[in-house]
Amino acid sequence: MPHKAVKTAVFPVAGRGTRFLPITKASPKEMLPIVDKPLIQYAVDEALSAGADTLVFITGSSKRAIEDHFDSNPELEAVLQAQGKQDLLDTLRGILPSWASCVYIRQPAPLGLGHAVLCARPVVGDAPFMVHLADDLIDATVPCFKQMVEVFAAYNGSVLGVQNVPKQDTDKYGIVTLERKIAPRIGKMSHIVEKPKPEKAASTLAVVGRYLLTPGIFDDLSKIGKGAGGEIQLTDGIARLMQREPVYAFEFEGKRYDCGSKLGYLQATVEYALKHPSLGTDFANYLRELVPKLP
Ligand code: UTP
Repeated sequence: MPHKAVKTAVFPVAGRGTRFLPITKASPKEMLPIVDKPLIQYAVDEALSAGADTLVFITGSSKRAIEDHFDSNPELEAVLQAQGKQDLLDTLRGILPSWASCVYIRQPAPLGLGHAVLCARPVVGDAPFMVHLADDLIDATVPCFKQMVEVFAAYNGSVLGVQNVPKQDTDKYGIVTLERKIAPRIGKMSHIVEKPKPEKAASTLAVVGRYLLTPGIFDDLSKIGKGAGGEIQLTDGIARLMQREPVYAFEFEGKRYDCGSKLGYLQATVEYALKHPSLGTDFANYLRELVPKLP
């Protein structure tokens, strides 16, 4: 039976963000800016462009700024209106289209990504849904989730966004093994393992923050215990789901930045600044002056 349309996107934002301390002590990692927009807004824009109209944020302590970002701010709007700053007013009003709704669910403690996704069950119900990790920023001509929705429609099963990573980095990711390739960028998966050590990893194909899942995953997540790092892992739930349903790995087209690491975050900042419509030329000139002076 074909699945329902994918209308809900889940954004787990309840992690501690320890790699970015001290900035993440009181501010969410997902509010770190790439030039002038927070990471979470790039994530929401991608999900909306792929057809989502319900945005579910799994939040934790120190995450109020995310709610405020997607809420209206009548006082600020009135000031901008009085100052005749229509451009800025349009920017603020364009953060979220009126047809999209936000739901905030509190994860009682950061027990793991699998637990965070399970918290979304009452809102997602019996429909397929996206899980979007905002710190994996993907720059693509066709937004990554839009590509994945097409794969989902064609194969009628869960789809994970994957990318080859250096062998020494397998212990940072869920690593998948393919049973067979079924199209140039698509494979049917046979195994998935969370953070295997490089010498034990069966491949270098890593899941990078994009999951399009069937609702069957909730039963699996409710049954698994703690996995790698003592956390309830989404990867372990997917490994169970694969015993009943096909799950596909999809090598999306686009460039991914690991904005959960400082280096990846800085790379994204530089490359997005270079492409920024009003800033790009000046920033490129600055870099041209700076680079020859680098030690
Ligand atoms: P990470 O593994 O990147 O962890 O979580 P983190 O806490 O955000 O960052 P570090 O490693 O301490 O620096 C992957 C995603 O899962 C969410 C995080 O918010 C992030 O988007 N997450 C993780 C939760 O929502 N809840 C959890 O219990 C764990």
